[in-house]
Amino acid sequence: MKKILVVFGSRFGNSKEIANVISKIFEEAKIIVDVVDLKKTKRKNWPSTDRYDGVLVGSGIKIMKWTKEPLAFLKKNKNNLNNKTLGLYVTSMIKLTDYEQAKKDYCEKIANNLGIQPKIYDVFDPVIDLSETSNLGALDKGILKLAAMGISKDFDVEIDLEGLNDFRDWDQIKDYANTFVDFIKKE
Ligand SMILES: Cc1cc2nc3c(=O)[nH]c(=O)nc-3n(C[C@H](O)[C@H](O)[C@H](O)COP(=O)(O)O)c2cc1C
Repeated sequence: MKKILVVFGSRFGNSKEIANVISKIFEEAKIIVDVVDLKKTKRKNWPSTDRYDGVLVGSGIKIMKWTKEPLAFLKKNKNNLNNKTLGLYVTSMIKLTDYEQAKKDYCEKIANNLGIQPKIYDVFDPVIDLSETSNLGALDKGILKLAAMGISKDFDVEIDLEGLNDFRDWDQIKDYANTFVDFIKKE
């Protein structure tokens, strides 16, 4: 049986939910999956990529940056990743305004800088949670609200500035997972 390692770094839980949905699709395709939350796992316990056929690395974006742990994971393992099916994904607000730019900035540049060649990469839509029950701290919520106001004004995207806006397109995410499965099965 093929084996895939899914690792992610998520600040507010959105990339984590994406990792879980993708992992379920891998399992349904009879692939063995290990999922590791890199922010919650000590670096010395990060798994070796050796025993996997595929590795999927995901992150949320905050102030134009990946979470630091998945980037560190990619750096650490970069020499061992190009002989596997490697996938990258991020969840980003910029997807709402310029999808191609978001792919360039948050996937292609990272891959080029590290010298890795993902077989598949994509940017998924964000969650913009400005509701009272949001898990964001006051500062993060303020930053997000300002950015959301700019986006809704300049790009004609409807955003509830007091509510939960979950823009994630689960069909896009499932298609991505199924394409990853196709790559793994062809290997
Ligand atoms: C304080 C803050 C700053 C953000 N900055 C950016 C940004 O610079 N670019 C972007 O595309 N998305 C940005 N986002 C949107 C997040 O990428 C989005 O909410 C994503 O779903 C977070 O994923 P995570 O929960 O897995 O970290 C920001 C969100 C917050 C709360």
